[in-house]
Parts: sequence; C-alpha cells; structure tokens
Amino acid sequence: MVLAATGDRLPQVVYWGAPLPLDEDLETLHRGHELDVTGGMLDENPDLSLCPEAVRTFPGQPGLILRDGDGTPLLPKFCYASDEQSEEGLSLTYADEANGLILIFEFATDPSTRIITAKTRLEANRAVHLHWLAAPVLPAPQQSDEMIDFAGRWTGEFQTNRTAWSAGMRYRENRTGRTGHEHFPGLLIPLTGCTNTKGEAYGFHYGWSGGHKMIAEELPDGRRQIQFGHAARMETQAAKSFESATLYVTYSHKGLNGCAVSFQRHLRDRIVTWPQPDRPRPVHYNCWEAVYFDHKLDVLKDIADRAADLGAERFVLDDGWFGQRDDDTRSLSDWEVDPRKYPEGLHPLIDHVHGLGMTFGIWFEPEMINEDSDIFRTRPDWVFGAEDQTLGRQQKALNMGLPEVRDFIYDRMAAILAAHPIDYVKWDHNRVLPMPDADQTRGSYALIDRLRADFPHVEIESCASGGGRIDFGIMKRTQRVWLSDSNDALERLRIQHDAALFLPIAVTGSHVGPRRCHTSGRIFDISFRAWVAAQRHMGFEMDPRELDERETAVLREVTSWWKHNRSWMLGADILRLDSADPAVMAEQQMTREGDKFVVFAGKAATSDQIAPRPLRLTALQPDARYRITLMNRGTAPALSRGMPALKDGPVEVSGAWLMHHGLTLPWNYPDTMWVVEGQRL
Ligand code: GLA
Repeated sequence: MVLAATGDRLPQVVYWGAPLPLDEDLETLHRGHELDVTGGMLDENPDLSLCPEAVRTFPGQPGLILRDGDGTPLLPKFCYASDEQSEEGLSLTYADEANGLILIFEFATDPSTRIITAKTRLEANRAVHLHWLAAPVLPAPQQSDEMIDFAGRWTGEFQTNRTAWSAGMRYRENRTGRTGHEHFPGLLIPLTGCTNTKGEAYGFHYGWSGGHKMIAEELPDGRRQIQFGHAARMETQAAKSFESATLYVTYSHKGLNGCAVSFQRHLRDRIVTWPQPDRPRPVHYNCWEAVYFDHKLDVLKDIADRAADLGAERFVLDDGWFGQRDDDTRSLSDWEVDPRKYPEGLHPLIDHVHGLGMTFGIWFEPEMINEDSDIFRTRPDWVFGAEDQTLGRQQKALNMGLPEVRDFIYDRMAAILAAHPIDYVKWDHNRVLPMPDADQTRGSYALIDRLRADFPHVEIESCASGGGRIDFGIMKRTQRVWLSDSNDALERLRIQHDAALFLPIAVTGSHVGPRRCHTSGRIFDISFRAWVAAQRHMGFEMDPRELDERETAVLREVTSWWKHNRSWMLGADILRLDSADPAVMAEQQMTREGDKFVVFAGKAATSDQIAPRPLRLTALQPDARYRITLMNRGTAPALSRGMPALKDGPVEVSGAWLMHHGLTLPWNYPDTMWVVEGQRL
C-alpha cells in the first residue's frame, strides 16, 4: 500500500495490491497515479484521500460530516501536522486549525496474516456533533465488474449479493443497532475473472457490532472509493472525540480464497483470545431443541448421559433455567435460578455433567428485559428506547449506556458464574434495537470485557437468534459464534460455505439437529447432518433419545473422526473449491503447510448431467504426490454401480493432476456428503 500526499494535503492511497519491488521510486508512483484533465473537468482532479473533503470540491461522498455544538455545519479542511512510523504501522495526524479539529489515521500491517488494519480518529477542541466518520478511505480497482456484499435473514445468514459497478454509489446501511443477519459488514471486490481459487480480489471487513454503513462509489472520472464506518448519526451526543472501528483489509492474487484465508487466520490467530489455547475445542451438546423451556432434572441428566456417550465434551444449558421462564414472554433480566425447576439449584445437574467428563455452559441474554420481570417492575426507566416501542420476541433492550444498568447485569451474572463451576456462556441478543446508538454497543463491549477480566476461564459464544452478531469487534471478546438457528443440514452447508469467506473453522459452531429439522420441517439422513456439523466446530442439539441404533452408530463414528482430526483441522484454512457442478458445494480444509487436507463435497441438489463432474482441488504442490482416500466410500448407494478408482481404495497422484483434472467421485444422492482425505507423500 502506497500513501502519497501533495503538499500538506491529506494523503491518498495511490497504490495497493500485489507487492511491488522494494526499490520502486515512490515519487514516480505518485506522479504516475495522476489522471489527465479534459473538458468538463476541474483543472486538477480532487484527491480521493483517506478522508475525502467536500471543501476541496471532491465530487463524491465526503469521509467526514459533522456539525458544531450549536448545529452549524462544519466544512473541515485538514493539513499535515505530524507522522509516526514503526515496524508494524503508521500514524498520521492532520489538523484543521480554523475549525479546531484534528484527524488521526492509524494503520498496522500483519505480514503473516496479510491483513492491514486501519482506523480514523477525530478530536475537537469543544463538543461537536458527528454525523459520519469513515475509517480510512481506500480506492477500489477499476478492473472489476462487480462487488460482493452480504445480506441474510434469520436461518438464512451470509447470503452473497453480487452487484455490478456503475456510475454513482451502492450504499449499505444497517440501522438495526446490532450487526444483524441482514447486513454482515464485509465486502469483496473480485477483479474480472476472479473465482474462489484464481484471480485477484480485495477484501474489507468493518469490526463493529452496532450496525455499519458502507459506500462503494464510482466517481464521474471512473475512480472508485470504498468507505466503511458506523451507521450514520449513531453518535447521539456531542463530544470532543470520536473514532471509527477497525477496518480490516486485504488483497489476494489467489482468488477469493486468498482473502478468505487472510480473514480466517487473522480472526483466529490475532483477534480471538482463547482462555486455554491448548485445549482442543470440545464437542458441544446444547439442549435447546431437545427441551426448550421444559427443564426437568431427570430428563436433562438422561440427555447428558446420552450426549456424553455420543462423544460430547461440553453440555450447554440453554434458555429456561432462570426466573419464571416457561416461555419467551417473561423473566429476561431475572438472572436467578428458578427454584421450581431446580429446587436444589444447578449443582445437581452440573455435578452430573462433570461426572460424565463434560464441562458446563449456560445461556444468558444480558442486554434484554421482559416487561413481565421483577426488574422491569422496579426499574422501567432502565429500558432502551420509547415506552410504547414495538416489542421484539416480547422483549425490550436495556439501556447499556447507563453504568448502573451494566453494574446490575454484571452483579447478576457474576453471582451465577462465581457460585458455579461454569466455563462457557452462550450470550444471546434476540432482537434488533429500537434505533442505532453507539453507546449501546460500547456498553455491551464494556460489560463483556469486565466479565472476561473477572472470569478469564469462561468462554463466550456470540449468538443473536443465530448469526445476528458476528463481526471482528464482538470476536475480540468471544470465542465462538452460533452461525445460524438453522440446523437444516442443507441450509447450513450453504451458510457455512459463504461464512468461510471470513470465519475460520475454530470459531464456527455447527450442530447436528433433530431428525426433522425444527426450522424447515425437512428430514435428512444422519450421515449428511453429521458430516455438515463436522465441517466446523462440531456439536449436537437434537434430543438424543430420538436416535435409533444406526443413527447413534453413524453419529458416534463421525464424532470420533472429528476428534481424531481436530488437532490439525481447527487450525486449517478453508479453501472454497470452484465446482464445475452448481449442485456440488465443496471445500478443501488444509494445513498451512499443505501436508494434509480433507475435502468435503456436499451434494446440495440433483445434478443436471448424469455423472459427477471432476472436482478440481487447489493450492497443492504440482510436483508432489498425494495419497487420496474417500473416507466414507462404504456409504455409496446401490445406484452407484461403477468403480471409479476412489471407490476401490486410496489412490496416489500428483498435485498437478488433482488441480487440473480433479477428483472423480462416485455418483450419489442429493443431500449427501463425500469426505476425501489427502496426505502429501
Ligand atoms: C435464540 C438462539 C437459540 C436459543 C434461543 C433461546 O433464538 O438463537 O439458539 O438459544 O434463543 O431462547
């Protein structure tokens, strides 16, 4: 990334992307970047700077919009003040003396994950109102036809949106107050011809949990700019200092996978803090879809016995253990154990779970309150938003900007965590907020940070009706996401495939759900359900009492395969494959060294052609030889009558053949998964 400035003006990124020779002359790059001037243009092209300024006739969206304390619009114009450079980063300070403002840009590079982080800070000599502050603004390539951003919904997270570039802007803004299912704050810009495995791409992610705004704009002269920041006007108070969240950016010449691997590694190795980094990720059991609110000690013990027998190593007690929580209309915020359901407290259940060799986790929804709760009756003023607001799942949010609210929730949660041997919290956030407010997000962060400081051994799962709060800001404070409330294996296959553009295996929860899926009504075979869960951080969520003998045997076998492989898989990269058959969704999970991999080829529909098309692998050494084993070849259906080599046993072939010809897999039904292991010889 090359930054250059003319005189004392704000710098612009004049180049970013493929590495240039270290002796490249930067003056020449600056001049070489300058555009010609012709009819209908200004006499000099305004800079597309790190914060484009309206006052310098920038013809697009400015990077900063603010008003003085009394409401007068300010038109800032910044000039160089100072800079600081270190091995890892750069900090640039610019001042607008007339308006009493200072703008600071911070960059850091991580040569190992190939991520650049960038942040903007604004300081004023009196309180001002902020409307919009972009993280450092970057140019986007003009050799690209489209951009990929993300939409989604409950049980349908991480839907990719491809939008053609055209004059003007694409403006995404999330005003729900949480990261949300609908607006994952990420953007990929593939250059023309880029696929998962080939070509160039640029990636962006804004690490903030309160809702973001994104601008992807093409100017009349053809230049393109990308801006990311908090949703507009979510700073509700005048203040003397503001900052953007961190913007994570990367460039890849290895297709979209290059961006995906950078984000996956950066999240896993640089952002998430693991209480016990050496502890293998335990197989989860979560009781939600087995019992819902109907907690009975003997039933839960029975379920725990069966979960442990299947291979579970952590038991998570979901919603329903506190207050008078018999359904979702009441008791949120009354975080005390329900004596009707647990007359002797939680200890008998926890002791039982521990006796089975599992650890114990518990569900909270800390930011929320039901009107039918003891706390609401005494402190209705603690609610966030209007009294007559529309409820979401019968609940309101607490005002997390108030220190007394945070103290109250902290005390309740800390009392439970201190009194019980609990090492895991599933932290839910089941409704959107009545309006975006940065104090609400900062309040949530402060509460989590305080709990983590005092209970450092407790891991946290970020859930918000499934994947409604997933971003690198929340992941600084948590270790796992509940990617979706959909345990429908076919839907999950797609959701986790697209989420892998940003999320590594280690943080992505995936559970084997009930035989008949509770959110889609569909029935899938246990083998498909189990392998889909085994692609990520594996767990179970069905009532194990429903499993017949065959289902139990398959689930045990896949779970033990997962445990056997997790030591390397949880640190592996997920490489999405370019499948020639749109019915096949395939990925290759490979160690960083490339000596070991597993390919999951999910058949998500019936193919148009009769026989499976060869599946090309990626990122192998062309000259190396690999031993390829179709792990579950024994499950081929009778309709697969031929004998492709892989059906017969392992084959040994070159990386070149695997990447250019590809695997010839046996025929299979839809809603099945082939699992192929690879070992470099
Ligand atoms: C949300 C979560 C579920 C479950 C319920 C409990 O919907 O996504 O997994 O925890 O809340 O009420």
